[in-house]
Amino acid sequence: MWAAPNRSRTRATTFTTDLFGEPVIIVRDKGGTIRALSNVCPHRWMLLVGHDPEAPIPIKAESCGNRRSFQCPFHLWSFDLDGKMIGAPGMEEAKDFDKLRWSLPQFAVELWGGFIFVNLDPEAEPLAPQLATLQPLVEAYELDRLQMLEPLEYECNWNWKMSVEVGSESYHHLGLHQDLLEEFMPAALSDIESPAGPYSIYRNPTADGSPIPTAFTPPAGLSEQQLSCLTLVTIFPYTMFFSMPEYTAYLQLIPESFDRHRLRYIPLVHPNVEQFPEPEEFANIVRATLDAVHQQDMVAGAYCWAGAQSQVARPGRRSHLESQLWQMHNWLLDQIENP
Ligand code: FES
Ligand SMILES: [Fe+2]
Repeated sequence: MWAAPNRSRTRATTFTTDLFGEPVIIVRDKGGTIRALSNVCPHRWMLLVGHDPEAPIPIKAESCGNRRSFQCPFHLWSFDLDGKMIGAPGMEEAKDFDKLRWSLPQFAVELWGGFIFVNLDPEAEPLAPQLATLQPLVEAYELDRLQMLEPLEYECNWNWKMSVEVGSESYHHLGLHQDLLEEFMPAALSDIESPAGPYSIYRNPTADGSPIPTAFTPPAGLSEQQLSCLTLVTIFPYTMFFSMPEYTAYLQLIPESFDRHRLRYIPLVHPNVEQFPEPEEFANIVRATLDAVHQQDMVAGAYCWAGAQSQVARPGRRSHLESQLWQMHNWLLDQIENP
């Protein structure tokens, strides 16, 4: 299962993340290679990075910064940025102690569209070939050139799949986003692609097909259709982003338990934003817009989760405007049956 815990254009060389309970350090090593290392010291399992010495129970703290190496605070075993062990004081008398055997385990990493994808299975099937049919549908947005703006953060007390379901379809514009989206981008006009890989994609054009107004020149390669629609992609199970002509919004999910996750909404803006007299003002407008829409989506997450606990709740009939969920559920079933 491939998940994208971050973008590759971060300034920090190191950050920690938690992938379904697995503590991981993403690092750009001295040679520039991006790696996903285990954040667990191979000695006695202390978390290597991400401690908050002030906190009484300093587990799973996130950390982001620049480092030259990692040193475990427990007994000072240390590791290079490529995971190789470089020191283990007090181990001189350990018979046949081979430092390299105690290097940090690594997970599979792949870059796609400027996202860092990690798979906990080192033998995982590579991601890019699985997304070969998606690539031409989004490449004009120049995803790998986009710059991150400050994220919006939300605590969500429901299962992460509910957030994926809310985020993956436009059917709910009819109800939840009646005031903010439906008039401008009617759900009924959505064009949902048939599954051609482990992802879903739909395009939602403006009501009259006119281009979406922009404050600066959008990427030159966008088609007429892309200039007048929102393109939303979900790479299963939970990497979601939608692209409009001048920015993309990346929804980063961090599942913490079956009924809790964090959600980071990260605006990614094209470098042409520099044409805008006050790029900071543009960032604020984007963030305010995303937040207003997302507050409505939070209502769906919270109340559908409450409803899902009912003893009479069973899967309801679905509209063709939410066939992305059917696509995702089939993918999940396939993962369960053929792990
Ligand atoms: S647990 Fe890390 S050095 Fe002992
Ligand atoms: Fe929504």
